[in-house]
Amino acid sequence: MSVRTAAASTAVAAMLGVCVSLPPAQGQASAAGSAPEVFAHRGASAYAPENTLAAVDAADALGIDWVENDVQLTKDGVPVVMHDTTLSRTTDAEEVFPGRAPWAVGDFTAAEIARLDAGSWFGPRFAGAGVPTLARYLHRVERNRQKLLLEIKSPETHPGIERGTLRVLREEGWLDPGHVRQRLVIQSFGAESVKTVHAQRPDVVTGFLGTPAVADLPSYATFTDQINPSYTTIGADYVAAVQRLKGAHGKPMRVNTWTVNDAGKATEVAGFGVDGIITNNPDVVRDATR
Ligand code: G3P
Ligand code: CA
Repeated sequence: MSVRTAAASTAVAAMLGVCVSLPPAQGQASAAGSAPEVFAHRGASAYAPENTLAAVDAADALGIDWVENDVQLTKDGVPVVMHDTTLSRTTDAEEVFPGRAPWAVGDFTAAEIARLDAGSWFGPRFAGAGVPTLARYLHRVERNRQKLLLEIKSPETHPGIERGTLRVLREEGWLDPGHVRQRLVIQSFGAESVKTVHAQRPDVVTGFLGTPAVADLPSYATFTDQINPSYTTIGADYVAAVQRLKGAHGKPMRVNTWTVNDAGKATEVAGFGVDGIITNNPDVVRDATR
């Protein structure tokens, strides 16, 4: 996690209006020893607008190392951080650009998307928060010394998104050995997209989002290191079946499950032996599983 003082962390959390219980000091083993890693889903999206810099900072204020995000391509090929394939739910695109229905991300240039407010829908104090480019997002994650679980969203609607995403990662220093070894995972619901990333950058750790049949897992293990399923689809047997296999980098495959937002469910999936939990409420999940 980032190096910070307890006082600073608590102060930032207070500004965000969230409760904070500090994680163990860096290098100190947690009480549980093998507690699952916690991933802040779209940033700490229970506390700040998803996929914005504010959500990254909210996760950092809670002492969360890993943030998950979603990347798509603009009309002019710029990777931007956005979950939905349209801009309507989380920005003011319908007001700023009337007549541009269905407001698909890929129908707008990066300059147009830069004019949007991606914070007001969540709360007035986030008014003016923009849709980050991937480059800007990476700067913030880097500044916070956090780690990134980056999802290539809807790759079928964004031809070339793997190369475009890898280009920005490389330009921003995220494909150097230190980042690749410790701080970056690229995942997608699209198996072909994960394969493409693995083919273009075999050193990068990858994840497949979904729950392949156990019989199919060996073929996934040729191109991915993680199987990241919905928590509604798994039990201890499935988790063990994944972890028995070695993934694309010769290490036991890992399981990070989503999206678990309450303490009881977090405790249950931790009992299945998952390696990580992806959550909108990272403080709640951390506290339930330590
Ligand atoms: O990282 C897992 C999760 O983000 C997948 O679902 O729809 O929130 O991108 P979604
Ligand atoms: Ca996602």
